[in-house]
Amino acid sequence: MSENLRKPFVAGNWKMNGNLALVAEFNDKLSGIKSNADIVVCAPSLLLHGFKPNGFSIGTQDVSHCDNGAHTGELSVDLIKEAGCQFAIVGHSERRDNQGESSELVALKAKKCVSAGVVPIICVGEPLEVREANNVEAFVGEQLDALVSELSVEALSKTIIAYEPIWAIGTGKTASPEQAQEVHEFIRTYFAKVSVELAQGLRILYGGSVKPDNAETLFAQPDVDGGLIGGASLKAEDFISICQAAN
Ligand code: PGA
Repeated sequence: MSENLRKPFVAGNWKMNGNLALVAEFNDKLSGIKSNADIVVCAPSLLLHGFKPNGFSIGTQDVSHCDNGAHTGELSVDLIKEAGCQFAIVGHSERRDNQGESSELVALKAKKCVSAGVVPIICVGEPLEVREANNVEAFVGEQLDALVSELSVEALSKTIIAYEPIWAIGTGKTASPEQAQEVHEFIRTYFAKVSVELAQGLRILYGGSVKPDNAETLFAQPDVDGGLIGGASLKAEDFISICQAAN
C-alpha cells in the first residue's frame, strides 16, 4: 500500500463538554462538508442520539473490553454500534491517568472494537518528564508493545493510532511539526518491524493543541495522517477549518 492511500483523518474529542444545542449546530454546519478527510465527532455518549451525521461519522470516547453483562456504568461495543458509532477512542491519556487504565487494558479494548467492526482510535504519548529525560521512544514503544502482543497484524490494520504528547494536551503548547514527525516516524518504523504493509497503511494522527492556524503544517508532515482535536473541536468553524487543512 503506498503512502498516499492513507486517507487523511480528523477526529474531534469533545471530552465532557457540549450539549444538544452544540450537536444541532454541528449537524447544521458540518452537513455535507467537503473535505478529503474522514471526519469523526466523538461526543459524550448521552449526546450521540442527537447527531444526524451527513459527511461525518460519530464515535465514543471510550468503550468496555467486556461483552454485555454485569458491568455497571460501562458501554459495550454492541451498545455503541447500535447508537450509530463506527469509531471509539481508547486509551486517552486522561483515562490512563484518571481511571488508571493500563496499556494491557487499552489493548483489550482495541481488540474488542476490531472484533465488532468498530475502529479504535488508540492514543499513546508521553508526559513532559519523559520527554525531558529523552525517553520518548522507550515510553511510547512500551505502549505499542501491549498492542502488538494482543492484536494480530490483521486486527492492527483496522486501527488508527493517535500520538498525543501529554504536555501538549489542552495546554496550548503544540508539539512542533518536527517533534510530531519524529515520533510519528518512530511509530511507523516500530510497526514496520511487525509488518511493512501494516506500517504503510496505518493512519497515525497527531493530537495536542491542534488549532486552525497550526493544523496545516502539522498535517503536512510525511507521517502525520491527520489529527485528534480536543478544545478546537468544540467550535464548529474551527473544527471545519482543521478538517479542511487535512486536504
Ligand atoms: P486538545 O486535546 O486539542 O485540547 O489539546 C486533544 C486531546 O486530548 O485529544
